[in-house]
Amino acid sequence: MSERQVTERLDDSAAGIARGAELLRSGATVAFPTETVYGLGANALDDDAVAKIYAAKERPSFNPLIAHLPDAESALIYAHMSPEARRVADAFWPGPLTLVLPLRSGAGLSPLVTAGNDSVALRVPNRPLALRLLREAGVPVAAPSANPSGRISPTTADHVLAGLDGRIGAVIDGGPCTVGVESTILGLTDPRHPVLLRPGSVTAEQIASVMGIMPSLPAGPDDTSPIAPGQMTSHYAPRAGVRLNATTARDGEVLVGFGPTPGADINLSPTGDLAEAAARLFAVLHDLDQGKWDSIAVAPIPQEGVGLAINDRLNRAAAPRPSGPA
Ligand code: TXA
Ligand code: MG
Repeated sequence: MSERQVTERLDDSAAGIARGAELLRSGATVAFPTETVYGLGANALDDDAVAKIYAAKERPSFNPLIAHLPDAESALIYAHMSPEARRVADAFWPGPLTLVLPLRSGAGLSPLVTAGNDSVALRVPNRPLALRLLREAGVPVAAPSANPSGRISPTTADHVLAGLDGRIGAVIDGGPCTVGVESTILGLTDPRHPVLLRPGSVTAEQIASVMGIMPSLPAGPDDTSPIAPGQMTSHYAPRAGVRLNATTARDGEVLVGFGPTPGADINLSPTGDLAEAAARLFAVLHDLDQGKWDSIAVAPIPQEGVGLAINDRLNRAAAPRPSGPA
């Protein structure tokens, strides 16, 4: 548990970002928007600062964090970059792709960031506000999604405060996130065997077109393995139940449509646009999860492009929950 504190709400002006950077340098936690979701940032070189992330989120300490950097050159400080990794980084950074690379030991990253692994997850986000904050902070910033562990990721500052108000130093309000689902995670500890650890809006096909080799899927969901802890089955869970591939609502259910969906109470994208559906997914789940509905029924989403990432998050939301409040 973290101590109760007053959470500052900062705007995305130069002064707001400067204050956020100052708080990060001083060892506080600061939530900020990226193009995917809001992250809960802390100085990745400072054990005490990183520990505050785990405390605020009540996140299991075996689940490592992504270190966010302002540019690809900075990645060379913290990781060994194979020629393949550099090619992928040049193609997709800044952008919604996280690379898991061999850790360069002795570069000063807190072992809490990597959860003691000899690999590190790095990302250069594609959002001017985030890049400016990272440059001004002048340190790598560890940032998981800014939600209590096991809950839905935030795509607005209000979502962040709904889960973490009083538990973090500040949130910078930059408006909603445009991508809406978390970054694609590509394991490149062995560049000859790229592994798609988490689907996102950068697709396996796009990665294959740069690498000339299709990333494989991890061996399978596992609740403890350190290699792909993001694959924990029940994750991204709203409080209400979630039922997939629904065409009608049952008693007590609200129906979320995709494309033409007769009887839908709300629609992720009436025109069937997957990017729009991804951008709205978590906001719709947050809105419907205020206690009015027992269960959220979701229409089928095509398993293609960013639809894979949407279905991945929905499958986790629908998975049986661990016992007790998450
Ligand atoms: O879009 C995103 O990636 C957002 C924004 C804030 O950048 N961040 C995010 O962080 O989604 P988080 O902590 O919610 O998810 C990071 C995932 C976790 O599933 C973690 O297990 C995995 O990255 N991860 C981190 N380091 C790893 C490593 N060394 N090996 C394998 N997986 C790792
Ligand atoms: Mg998360």
